[in-house]
Amino acid sequence: MATLRLPDFSQRVRRPEIMDQPGLDPAEHAAALRGLGRINVLSRSGAVLWPTIARIAREQSGKPLRVLDLATGGGYVPVTLARLAARAGLDLRIDGCDISATAVAFAKEQANAQGFDLHVFECDVLTGALPQGYDVITTTLFLHHLDDASAVDLLRRMREAAGRAVLVDDLVRSRWGHALAWMGCRLLSRSRVVHHDGPVSVEAAFTPAEVLEMARAAGMDGAMLTRHWPQRFLLQWRRP
Ligand SMILES: C[S@@+](CC[C@H](N)C(=O)[O-])C[C@H]1O[C@@H](n2cnc3c(N)ncnc32)[C@H](O)[C@@H]1O
Repeated sequence: MATLRLPDFSQRVRRPEIMDQPGLDPAEHAAALRGLGRINVLSRSGAVLWPTIARIAREQSGKPLRVLDLATGGGYVPVTLARLAARAGLDLRIDGCDISATAVAFAKEQANAQGFDLHVFECDVLTGALPQGYDVITTTLFLHHLDDASAVDLLRRMREAAGRAVLVDDLVRSRWGHALAWMGCRLLSRSRVVHHDGPVSVEAAFTPAEVLEMARAAGMDGAMLTRHWPQRFLLQWRRP
């Protein structure tokens, strides 16, 4: 008789995500990025970064605020920030980077289609120095891709590279988060990549306590973590 395997959320379980596979068919990759975009709209994963970014931009006294989104995927976060900045009349220069050429092309197309001229470039954020010259460095739905040591290392390098602040948004590992991801991914996308990667991402995600411990290990003194819908966390660190 077949047995139902319920994931154990007491520890991370890391399994490969289809979107990370280099040979993924570009059309299937683009379909998955469109699905991820719809999930981002529902989970407000650009809007939750905005209040902190807007506050810092208003402190700039006329200088543009330079923001870099790491592992930007389809560019949903930079495009959302660009739209909110235009609406608020704030001068932001927002760039995005990703290891995947397909994602970079898709993000550029999305930005252009919405009338934003964003700089999106290819970059492996796990090797070499992070791009320099940015006030705020963000990343969303990426930390859970990494093993614990690489996650701490990325947080440390983001802290060192960011002139003003680091913002990290990701999934919370929990049974409820897993159920929501399973249902949400099926309701919002027909992509088998999204159906597979969503629940697998929750199993690999961190708990808020684990994230705060990693932030401490990365030297982010004073880092703050808040939780938001749907089973997500936002880690914020500002340079003193
Ligand atoms: C789940 S997607 C998240 C995309 C986007 N940040 C979002 O929230 O919609 C993870 C992204 O990380 C990118 N990625 C994986 N490894 C990377 C690396 N070493 N350097 C830069 N990007 C990477 C993938 O190509 C993919 O676009």
